[in-house]
Formats: sequence, C-alpha cells, structure tokens
Amino acid sequence: MEIKKFKKFDDNFLWGASISAFQAEGASTKDGKGLSIQDVKKISEKYSDFSVAADFYNNYKEDIALLKEMGLSSFRFSISWTRIIPDGDGEINKKGITFYHNLIDELKKNGIEPIVTIYHFDLPYLLQQKGGWSNRDMIVKAFLKYSKVLFNEYAKKVKYWLTINEQNVMIMIGSKMKFLNGEDKKFNEKELYNQSHNMFIAQALVMEELHNNFPDCLIAPALNIVSIYPNSNKPQDYLAAMNASVMRNWYYLDAIVRGEYNPIMYKYLEDNNFLPDFRKGDYEILKKAKPDFIAFNYYTSATVKSEVNNFVEVEELIDQQRLFDVPGMFSYCENPNLEKTEYGWDIDSTGFRITMREMYERYRLPLMITENGLGYSEELNENNTVDDSYRIEYYEKHLNELRKCISEGIKVISYNAWTAIDIVSSHQGFSKRYGFIYVDRTEKDLKQMKRYPKKSFYWYKEYIKKLKD
Ligand code: BG6
Repeated sequence: MEIKKFKKFDDNFLWGASISAFQAEGASTKDGKGLSIQDVKKISEKYSDFSVAADFYNNYKEDIALLKEMGLSSFRFSISWTRIIPDGDGEINKKGITFYHNLIDELKKNGIEPIVTIYHFDLPYLLQQKGGWSNRDMIVKAFLKYSKVLFNEYAKKVKYWLTINEQNVMIMIGSKMKFLNGEDKKFNEKELYNQSHNMFIAQALVMEELHNNFPDCLIAPALNIVSIYPNSNKPQDYLAAMNASVMRNWYYLDAIVRGEYNPIMYKYLEDNNFLPDFRKGDYEILKKAKPDFIAFNYYTSATVKSEVNNFVEVEELIDQQRLFDVPGMFSYCENPNLEKTEYGWDIDSTGFRITMREMYERYRLPLMITENGLGYSEELNENNTVDDSYRIEYYEKHLNELRKCISEGIKVISYNAWTAIDIVSSHQGFSKRYGFIYVDRTEKDLKQMKRYPKKSFYWYKEYIKKLKD
C-alpha cells in the first residue's frame, strides 16, 4: 500500500539502542562473576574473546552520558546470569546485584528507560556441565530462580522485560554458532527440539511469575523474525516459503503467544520422530502465560525454493541470517534483488515492513524492535570519527518502513538499534562494528578504549530530535 498520509510517532515512543552483557561488559571474572559458556568457548585466533569486550562494566557512566547526549529514551541491555548467580543456581553475588542497580539507576537518572533481557546467549558454564537446556528439571528451576531474583531486585524500576534472546536462532543454528552450549556440538534434532520445548516452559513460567507479582511490568520474548520469500511464483516455492516461516518464525511465536504448537511444525516433528518429551500439564503452562508485546530482532529477509539444491552448502557461510536446506521443507537460495552488506547479509528494508505486518496481523500484539543495524569493519579517521554514511542510509531506509507501518496502524512501542557502542560481534570479533559510538580498540590491542561518536551518532540524534519537535 502506498502511504498517502504519514502518522506521527507517539510522544511516548521509545527511541533506543541495544547491547548484550557478554558482548559489551567485559570484566568477565571481576567482582565474583562466574563463567558463562561465552567465557569458555573456543574462539578463532583472528578474533577477540569476550573477556574485556567494550569494558562497559567499568565505563557505563561515560557511555550512558553519551547515550543521553544522543537523545535516547530507551536502552536495551542484558543481565549476565553468572554475575547474579555465579554457578547458575546457587548463591547470589551481591556485587553483581549492585552493578545492575547502579546501571539502572544511572539510566533512569538520565531519563533513559531500561529494557532488560534476562538471557542473551550466556548460559552459566556450570549449568551447561549439568546438561544445560537439555536437562529440563534443572534448567527450568534455575531459570525461574534467576528470573525471580531479577524481578525482586529490579522490577520496581524496570517496566520492560525480555525473556530469551533469539530462541529460534539458538535452536536452528545455535550449535554451529556456539550460542546454545558454547561448543560446536551437533545435537540431534530430537534433543534440539527438547531444548526448545524446555525454553518454552521456562519462559512461560517466568512470564507468569512477573505478571503475578509485578502487574505493572510488561514482558515479551525477543526472537529473530524474518520475512521469507518464495524464489518464484511456482506454487511449490510459495509452500516452501510457508514451511520456512513456520520453522523459523511461527513455531516459536505460536507457542509463546498462543500457547500452542504450530500444526505444520507438529507434523514435521512427529513425522521425523523429533517430538519433544511433553509432560502432563505442559499445554496448560503454555496456555496460561501470555506476553504483553512481541520483541524482535531484524537484520534481513530470506528466500527459499522447493527444489533441492545440488550443491554442498559452504558451512562457513551459514550464520544467524543465512538459512540452509531442510529436506522436505525448503531449500536456501540467494535473492539477486537485494544488496549485501560487507559481511554478506542481504539489506532489505521492505522485508522489515513485511515482517512487522505479518506479525501484527497474526498476533495483534504491540511490537518492539530490539535489534536492527549494520555490521561494518571500521577505523577512526584523521578527525577521530567514522564517516559511516552507509549505516545512516541503512537506518534511514528501515525507519522509513517503520513509519509506514505506524501509519498503517501497526502498534510499535520502541525501536532499539543494534548497537549503542561498538561491542564484540557474536561470532566475528571486534572488527565487525555496529555502534553509533566507536570504541577504540582492535581485536587484540585494547588501547585506551576511548569512545568517539561516529557520524551516525549525530544523525540519530537529529532524527530523534526532529520527531520530538
Ligand atoms: C543477533 C544477536 O543474532 O545478531 C546479537 O542477538 C548479535 O547478539 C547480532 O550481535 C549481530 O550478529 P553478529 O554475529 O554480527 O554479531
């Protein structure tokens, strides 16, 4: 639809940016923090590990001052489970608790709304040793305990909560990316879908816990949802795209929002003997819990076809945005209509609009964008800044589509760009930068880690300001 009259963003729309704990904080063993799977995973020689990251742990006040200068009204960050409970399910670490109180207080002092992700790829290593997400009794109890600690400490100050970051990415390619258990271990699909089911259960209990005790708070999952196109107008390709959407998007959202297993996915799991070990009462648990909105991360779209590929997929290329083949369901293919980023991700701002429309039409819940951004290898120029005009162009196009969605009546409560400051990429080191603020370090040379606003910093500041005026 061509939009003839654009609607304005609500005055209380939250304009923000995001980070995650393990990618930004550093201080990975400081003040009693326990090890997470991200701290122990093997990392390629050419990339930085996560031990120092952007040193946000020690720099958060300075960073928040810059976020305030940019005019942000929200900041999405995750809490490190092992800073709060070092071994995952035992003693509470007071220093960890204090750190997040200070961080939240600092944000609020600066007029920035905290949006807290409970879990972002950083499972406590000791819980991983006990079976991680495969060990249902252990993990559900531990996740609930950890979440209760967070709610009791922070829910009076934090209104917006996110349960699990990108459950769908963890299940679909988490073992290859070492997001799921820190190892490049191939789980069989039965075990994977059991892990996924355990996440559904844990997440549902946590949503209910918050609703029962802190009715003013709002909570949602944060999945990586993408629009999926058929490669042609062959009906079989359309069906393949529907299958891919079910596997990547709706299976997760149907379970979390509607408390139901998507029927197509159920059939796929059943036919392949991948059905999880349902327990009595599971459906009731899923049905009872309802998110208040849907948070999602969007980077790009995907294209699929029905025909089976007769090439061997280059394993290296598969990551959280590049699909693969699922025999009998869909096969991956390139989309020649889209430009690619330096790192090979398609740029598709229209897909952003399609994604929002699809979700809103299916679930009618308000949406929150928790990640959207462009990774680029960058260096400071002679003026101590980065001319990241490509990033500005990326944001402009995506925000324009967001404006169209708002104008079409889709409820969106907040947009949080990925990322506020440069942090370590989840799988491609520090050189793949996403921030509005340059952090001066390289993969191996930490330098002084001084912060320098990039051109996009001033652009975002102006963009937000104009909308408020
Ligand atoms: C999302 C994750 O999958 O993509 C982030 O939630 C991640 O943690 C982001 O950083 C960008 O991906 P990458 O691999 O380029 O850092």
